[in-house]
Amino acid sequence: MISNKRPMVLATAICLAFIGLGLSTISFAQDEEMRLNTGEDITVQRTAVPFSHDLHMGLYECLDCHHDYKDGANVLDEDTLEEGNPDVRCATCHNDQADLDRQKAYHRQCMGCHIDTRKAGEASGPEMCGACHLPED
Ligand code: HEC
Ligand code: HEC
Ligand code: HEC
Ligand code: HEC
Repeated sequence: MISNKRPMVLATAICLAFIGLGLSTISFAQDEEMRLNTGEDITVQRTAVPFSHDLHMGLYECLDCHHDYKDGANVLDEDTLEEGNPDVRCATCHNDQADLDRQKAYHRQCMGCHIDTRKAGEASGPEMCGACHLPED
C-alpha cells in the first residue's frame, strides 16, 4: 500500500510545483516588468521595451542608474525615488532639448552596461535592437 501511494504523492508535489511556477511567472509579468516607452510627445518608431526593474534592482544600487548631477557628482537623494515622482523619470531631464535626449540616454545606460558586463565575461543583457524592441504581441 505504501509503495502504491508514493507516485501519487510525487505527482501531487510536481503539480503543486508547476502551479507555483505558473503563479510566480504571472505576478512577475504584472508587478515587476516595466514597459519603457514614454513617447507622449514624440513619434515612436520602435516598440516599447520590456524592462525588469526588479531583476536589475537585485543586481545594482539605485544610484547606479538614477541620478541628478551637480558639478559632475551624483547628488540624487535616494529617498526621493518614489513611484509617481516625475523627477524620477528619465525623460523629465533627457527631453528633446537635452544634448543627451531620451533615446541616447537610455541607449547609453542600458546598452553601455550590457556591453561592459559582456566584455567582463559576466552574465549580461541584450545589445541587438530587436532583442529590446520586441515585436508587439
Ligand atoms: C539598472 C538601472 C536601474 C536600477 C539599478 C534601479 N532603477 Fe529604478 N528605474 C530605472 C528605469 C529605467 C526606470 C524607468 C524610468 C522612466 O520611466 O523614465 C526606473 C523607474 C523607477 C521608479 C519610478 C516608477 C514609477 O512607476 O513611477 C522608481 C520609484 C524607482 N525606479 C526606484 C528605484 C529604486 C528605489 C532603486 C534601488 C533600490 C532603483 N530604482 C534601481 C532603472 C533602474
Ligand atoms: C534630474 C535630471 C535627470 C534625470 C531624472 C535623469 N538624468 Fe541622466 N543625466 C542628467 C544630467 C544633468 C547628466 C549629465 C549631463 C549630460 O551629460 O548631459 C546626465 C547624464 C546621463 C548619462 C551619461 C552619463 C552617465 O551617467 O552615464 C546617461 C547615460 C543618462 N544620464 C541616462 C539616464 C537615464 C537612463 C535616466 C533614467 C533612469 C536618467 N538619466 C535620469 C540628468 C538626469
Ligand atoms: C548597470 C548595468 C545594467 C544596466 C544599466 C541595464 N542592464 Fe539590463 N542587464 C544587466 C545584466 C547584468 C543582465 C543579466 C542578468 C542575468 O542574466 O543574471 C541584464 C539583463 C537584461 C535583460 C534580459 C533579462 C530580462 O529581464 O529579460 C533585459 C531585457 C535587459 N537587461 C534590459 C535592460 C534595459 C532596457 C535597460 C535600460 C533601461 C537595462 N537593461 C539596463 C545589466 C544592466
Ligand atoms: C538594451 C535595450 C535596447 C537596445 C539593444 C536598443 N534599444 Fe532602442 N531604446 C531602448 C529604450 C529603453 C528606449 C526608450 C524607450 C522610450 O522611452 O521610448 C529606446 C528608444 C529608442 C528609439 C526612440 C523612441 C522611438 O521609438 O522612436 C529608437 C528610434 C530606438 N530606440 C531604436 C533602436 C535601434 C535602431 C536599436 C539597434 C541599433 C536599438 N534601439 C537598440 C532600448 C534599447
